[in-house]
Order: sequence, then structure tokens, then C-alpha cells
Amino acid sequence: MDFLQLVAQRCSVRAFKSERPSDEVIHQLIEAARLAPSACNRQPWHFYLIESDEAKTAIQQAYPREWFATAPLYIAITVHHDEEWVRQTDGHRHGIVDASIAAEHICLAAAALGLGSCWVCAFDVELCSKALPLAADEEPVIILPIGFPAPDFEPREKTRKPQEEILSII
Ligand SMILES: Cc1cc2nc3c(=O)[nH]c(=O)nc-3n(C[C@H](O)[C@H](O)[C@H](O)COP(=O)(O)O)c2cc1C
Repeated sequence: MDFLQLVAQRCSVRAFKSERPSDEVIHQLIEAARLAPSACNRQPWHFYLIESDEAKTAIQQAYPREWFATAPLYIAITVHHDEEWVRQTDGHRHGIVDASIAAEHICLAAAALGLGSCWVCAFDVELCSKALPLAADEEPVIILPIGFPAPDFEPREKTRKPQEEILSII
């Protein structure tokens, strides 16, 4: 698919079929994330493929929504703060930026492969942290439910600010 068409077509999917995407497809999603750029190429991210019943139940408790529980699997993206690049001039940490880029690579790759996904950040951090085997410096950033869109899924109309509002030419 043409890249700009893909960007226009990708949308948040909040209703999934129960069918699990193949291992090959999952490999392609993680590969898309692995190839993402990161500040100073630190790659401070980690990806958890959540697909066992036990792990899915635990992650669903961190974001208890009916639609979220319909996903056949989840990818949780975390950042290792000990590995992230920190801007010297103001101490700004960039791990969450890096994790976010990788997450969007996954979402775009998923859309290109006919899958749906949705960014989820409004999860309970404590419950999410309990659901994942995190290291001391590791923070969960995004959970992506992933699967084939349910047959009755209707994409919402994209509402975005117009370019005149968001672009300044200086
Ligand atoms: C940083 C971030 C956090 C988000 N968190 C959630 C969330 O917790 N739950 C949810 O249903 N959608 C979440 N979304 C999805 C947005 O609501 C969605 O991307 C936005 O409304 C635009 O719609 P679209 O993705 O269909 O184009 C999040 C998106 C981003 C980028």
C-alpha cells in the first residue's frame, strides 16, 4: 500500500475477531518496531507479546474495558530508563519518545497487514507493572491490543485540526 494511503487509513480499532495473527505476522510487527529510530540509537525499549490466558487476564485488569478484552493478543512497550538518551542541555529524557515511535511503527505495520490496533496509555500503571516481569529501571509506556478488526467494526471519521491551525511558516 502507498505509505500516505496507509497513514490516512490507519485508525484506532476497538473491536477484534478472536483469531490470533500468525507467528510470521507477529514477527513482522516486532521487526517494524526493531527498525524504528531512537535517540542516539540507544533502543531503550522492550516489547512484551502478551498471549497466554494468564498474562492476558492480568493486562486486562490494568485497563478494564469490554472492547480491550476482545483482542487476541497485546504488545506492551516499555522503556529502560537506564538506557535512554538524556539531552545534556536540559536533562530531558527521550526514552518515552523512542518507545512511542516504535509503537507507531507497529500500528502502521499492523494496518499494512490488515490488522487493527489501538494505542492504550490510560492503563493503571501499578496493575500493568504487576502483569509484566519488569526490571527495576523499566516503565510500561503503551499497551497495543492487536488483532483482525471485528466484522461490524466501523472506522470513525478522522477529526483533525486543519493545517492552517497547526502549521506556522516563519
Ligand atoms: C499517546 C496516546 C494515548 C492513547 N491512549 C488511549 C487509551 O488509553 N484508550 C483508547 O481507547 N485510545 C487511546 N488512544 C487512541 C486515540 O484516542 C486515537 O488515536 C485518537 O482519537 C485518533 O483516532 P484514530 O487513532 O482513530 O485516528 C491513544 C492515542 C495516543 C497517541
